[in-house]
Amino acid sequence: MRTVSTLCIVLFAGSAHADVLHHWTQLNDGRSQSFRAIVSDDTCPAIEIDGALHQMSVRAGVMPDFPNLVCEFATDKPVASAQVNTLRFPVRPERADRMVVVGDTGCRLKDGSPVQACNDPEEWPFATISGSIAEKEADLAIHVGDYYYRETECLDPDICGDTYGDTWRTWEADFFAPGQAMLSAHPFVFVRGNHENCNRAWLGFDRYLAAEPMRDPLMCDNYQAPFVVEFDDLQLPVIDSSTRDRDTYTWDRLRAMQEQFTDVLPRLDRETLVLTHTPLWGYGSKKRESDELETLESIQRDAFGDMLPRLVSGVVAGDLHFAQLVSTSGNPVQITFGNGGVWLYTTPEGRVDDLQVGHGVTGDIFGFNQFGFGMIERVATGLDVTFFDQTGEAAVKCTAPASVETCAPEGV
Ligand SMILES: [Fe+2]
Repeated sequence: MRTVSTLCIVLFAGSAHADVLHHWTQLNDGRSQSFRAIVSDDTCPAIEIDGALHQMSVRAGVMPDFPNLVCEFATDKPVASAQVNTLRFPVRPERADRMVVVGDTGCRLKDGSPVQACNDPEEWPFATISGSIAEKEADLAIHVGDYYYRETECLDPDICGDTYGDTWRTWEADFFAPGQAMLSAHPFVFVRGNHENCNRAWLGFDRYLAAEPMRDPLMCDNYQAPFVVEFDDLQLPVIDSSTRDRDTYTWDRLRAMQEQFTDVLPRLDRETLVLTHTPLWGYGSKKRESDELETLESIQRDAFGDMLPRLVSGVVAGDLHFAQLVSTSGNPVQITFGNGGVWLYTTPEGRVDDLQVGHGVTGDIFGFNQFGFGMIERVATGLDVTFFDQTGEAAVKCTAPASVETCAPEGV
């Protein structure tokens, strides 16, 4: 017994002063939850779960451009409280009735594109949005992808900071520092965006936010395994649509996308919200301040849009840098929140009927052209969807069963 106690003391001795830089909780496959922390120490801390100490393991070690450890403790069991020292982690809820949705949150620095003023909260309001999300009561939050946008060097650090590329410093500036308020408040489901695909920030995404373990040896998957976050009366399948560019619209990609969906399809047996980065249906511009509005080209819609069972009540996505609800005949409602901080694209504001929202598909849209985030609430008659501005004020609400017909401005 003495040996065991001594071992515990040795194991946890180095962790008492572990410097936790950022921490969060993420919901992964089934009923699992993963408590994660980025630490500046060279060992992972212990985490106190319902009063018992457990050693966190190293999820990702130190490597060039990533000078910190990523630590993890995952469990399938229900947890009432989790903390490292005095730092509290959100825990997995029993039910998922109120879900925050946010997406496309980073600050745009890209060759050939005007520079977004990352240091100006009016120009890049993600920190404000994160604070507003933290204030909302919710069971969980969903980030629909595109965390990383600082791809090229900023020539004026006073305006847009001094970091770019897939490194710890960029992830901290673009996501973890401004995002910590919302990460401290809610457990998250993370979706991979095209900014985290194999040509961009895949390594940072794998280290920090992927549901699956890091690959050894290190390599990038075009499609990470789909997973299903489960509750007694709701399932949230997460489909990786990060590889979706137009120049990669091939049969191989179409089949790979279809396989992701058919992998999870047999598991779906109750109400379902499909989570994925790219919407299945949409309409608007994919450029900043442009009036060249167009139909969304969605390889996913072609791959599995016709296979969605009736128990799918909605598809939740981002990618388009605005917020939008899309109603089509015979399909679940498309709920898109890509207005989390990166420069906005353009969609018609408010309701427009009878648009092409996919090849050969006609639908109605309700567009919201401001920065902000969303809330999906499950009520007896279906889904309520609320569009919030960056300060957390409700701007538009679509009442259950949410469809474009039911969307109306709030407070007028
Ligand atoms: Fe995006």
